[in-house]
Amino acid sequence: MPGGNLLTDKKIILGISGGIAAYKVADWVRKLRREGAGVQVVMTGDATRFVTPLTFAALSGRKVYEGMFDPNDVERIPHISLAAEADLILIAPATAQTIARLASGMADDLPAALVLAHQSPVIICPAMNCNMYLHPATQANLDRLKTYGYRIVEPGRGSLACDTEGPGRLADWSYAKEAIYAALTKQNLADRKVLVTAGPTHEPLDPVRYLGNRSSGRMGFALAVTARRRGAEVTLVTGPSELPDPPEINVIRISSAEEMAAEVLERCQDMDVIVKAAAVSDFRPAEYSAGKLKKAGAGFTMNLTENPDILKTLGERKGKSPLPLLVGFAAESGDFINEGRRKLREKNLDLLAINDITSKEAGFGVETNRITLLNRHGDQEKIPLLSKEDTADLIWKRVADLLAQ
Ligand code: CTP
Repeated sequence: MPGGNLLTDKKIILGISGGIAAYKVADWVRKLRREGAGVQVVMTGDATRFVTPLTFAALSGRKVYEGMFDPNDVERIPHISLAAEADLILIAPATAQTIARLASGMADDLPAALVLAHQSPVIICPAMNCNMYLHPATQANLDRLKTYGYRIVEPGRGSLACDTEGPGRLADWSYAKEAIYAALTKQNLADRKVLVTAGPTHEPLDPVRYLGNRSSGRMGFALAVTARRRGAEVTLVTGPSELPDPPEINVIRISSAEEMAAEVLERCQDMDVIVKAAAVSDFRPAEYSAGKLKKAGAGFTMNLTENPDILKTLGERKGKSPLPLLVGFAAESGDFINEGRRKLREKNLDLLAINDITSKEAGFGVETNRITLLNRHGDQEKIPLLSKEDTADLIWKRVADLLAQ
């Protein structure tokens, strides 16, 4: 399948400082390698007391560096040579001591010296006791690190190894992963407000039954995640989906088309881009029964009424104004391009992704998609089979081009 992972062949330095969360990042090494990255581990002396370098050497497949100078390899000065090769430096866990060291620009251990010598993005994942984390000194140090352009992956809340409750747990991998991807992605949606809709809608018939469809929400969630990676502020309005809330995204969960319409129309004025990837039910039961419908041995006829077409309403409201830029999806089973052109025109869209729902590799429930894009200038682009994430990222590329025009 075409479309390479962003981390393929990237060199990531993982700097580990001396906190108990050091054991958690052993698993991050495997995850990074599975994404295609090469991982070079460097450790502070204290870190090696929590987890042995041998563990990280085995997981990374490379020698682990601990000291500023290697007596067995005097030709190589690790903090210079490793920094020059790195695409990104990830400090995890970052203890209060390491954060203070980095904030004051000290170079008295290998991870800190590397950060000073580097020219690649730096990501810091704090983990410590909650009082230490909340202390004004640590907060001031973190603020200072932000001014250096480092990304801080906020720690999670919960019970800590030191038997206290509060912020200080090493962030979950999904947060660190998104920070890494964002650091390596062109921020061409920075300062843009983006709204994405996802998933099916459920149209209630009675307290236990509804009319729905097989949308999993994957395409919409992938669009939300990839927009965030490009720097956008993202709101995701989703119908019922089993997918968890993605990191750093404002997720609004709704059930019916009318609820989706209310949430979207309330926010549309503030947005730069709206992408409607949701499989909105075109119809809902004309009547809702407050009690459970009982069988009467004579079959059952249900009257349906049409739902509001949210995207069409957005297109009508937009008129001739350039923003918000409107992107739609068209689920088609035949006469794709003509149907697509009709929807683009009738809904006043800037970009439309046409899905062949008869294909086994595209559409509902699968990880891949194959779309054709139509834009407001009449251009047509056939996109090869890609993962939904790569498809989503490509849509944002085209959106960024349209925004730049
Ligand atoms: N859409 C919407 N509100 C609806 C129905 C659809 O906002 N009530 C949006 C979808 O999110 C999608 C686009 O309109 O972005 C096209 O949806 P699709 O189901 O392909 O087309 P319809 O306009 O419903 O037309 P038809 O089902 O007749 O093909």
